[in-house]
Amino acid sequence: MIVLGIETSCDDTAAAVVEDGPRVLSSIVASQIETHRAFGGVVPELASRRHIESLSAVVEEAIARAGITPERIDAVAATRGPGLVGSLLVGFSFAKGYAWARGLPLAGVNHLEAHIHALFLEDRPPAYPFVSLLVSGGHTALYLVSSPFGMELLGQTRDDAAGEAFDKVAKMLGLGYPGGPVIEKLARCGDPHRFPFPRPALDQPGFDFSFSGIKTAVGRMIERLPSLSEGDAADLAASFQAAVIEVLLAKLVRAAAAKGCPRIAVVGGVAANGPLRRRTEQAARECGIEAFLPPPRWCGDNAAMVAAAGLHLLRAGHRCGPESDVFSRSG
Ligand code: KG4
Ligand code: ZN
Repeated sequence: MIVLGIETSCDDTAAAVVEDGPRVLSSIVASQIETHRAFGGVVPELASRRHIESLSAVVEEAIARAGITPERIDAVAATRGPGLVGSLLVGFSFAKGYAWARGLPLAGVNHLEAHIHALFLEDRPPAYPFVSLLVSGGHTALYLVSSPFGMELLGQTRDDAAGEAFDKVAKMLGLGYPGGPVIEKLARCGDPHRFPFPRPALDQPGFDFSFSGIKTAVGRMIERLPSLSEGDAADLAASFQAAVIEVLLAKLVRAAAAKGCPRIAVVGGVAANGPLRRRTEQAARECGIEAFLPPPRWCGDNAAMVAAAGLHLLRAGHRCGPESDVFSRSG
C-alpha cells in the first residue's frame, strides 16, 4: 500500500509518500518560519492562509519526488488534530477532497500519535511496550505505549509545553523564533551551572511537568542583571536548557522504572535538541535500558510520520467519511 500523508496542524505545510514497511519514498516540509518570525510566534490566521497557498504544490512535489504517478497512491492520511483549527481544516479538507475525487480511503490521524510513529520510520524501531516522552511546541506528555494506538497517558505539563518554554525564553533574550534551535546553539558556549533555576515538579510524585516557573525565573534573572552581555545570555540559555532537560529526563526514567519498562523514547520537535538526545542515551545506559529517538528530521512536524500512523489505521479498517471533522484539543 502507498499512502499520501498530509500534515498542516501548525506552521509547517507537509506532504509525504510512504509505502508499507514503512518506507519513506518522499517527504516535503514547507516551513512558514519566515512568515511568523516578525511576530515572534505563530499567527494562526497567517498560518492557514499560507497552508492554502502552498499545500497543493507541496503535495505535487511529494508525489514527483517519490518517483510515482498519482494513480499509484492507494490511500490518503491527514492530521485531524490536535492543533490550530484553521490550519487543520486546510489540510484535512484538501485530503477529503483528494481522496473523494479518486475514490481512495482516508485515514484521520492524531498528531500526537503521529509523533510517536516517527520512531518507526527508521531501521531500529522500539519493541512494545515503551515509555515515550512527547516534547513539542504544543505538548509535553509521558505515555506508556503498548501497541500502535495503545497509548496510556501517564502525565503531562500543567502549564507550558517544553518547546513553548524554549520559544518564550528565546523571545525574552531577543533571539527570535523558533526558540529551541537558537537556545541550543547559544547554550553551547554558556555555563549551565551559573544560574540554579528551579526544577519544578521534580520532587513531587507522579509524572506531571511544569515549565512556567523556570521561564519566569529566567525573566526575573534578566531583570536583575545590570546589563545583558553575550556571556550572560549564553549562561542563561545553558542554565535554562539544563533545568528543562533534567526535569524531562528524571520523569521519563522514573516512569519507565515505575512501569517496569526496559525501553524509553523521546519524540516531538524538542527531541531534536542535541544535549537532550545525549543525556537520554546516557541515562538509558546507566539504567541498563534502551533509548530510542527518531533522527532530527523526523522530530519536528512532518507528513511521513502521519502517513506511517495512517498505514496502521487503514490496515485496521479505520476510514474517515465526508462528515469527519478536525479537532483542536487532545483528549
Ligand atoms: O513538533 P514540533 O515541530 O511542532 C509541534 O507539534 O509543536 O515542535 C516545535 C517545537 C518548538 O517549540 C521549537 O522551539 C522546538 O520544538 N524545538 C527545539 C529544538 N528544535 C525545535 N527545542 C529545543 N531544542 C531544539 N533543537
Ligand atoms: Zn508536532
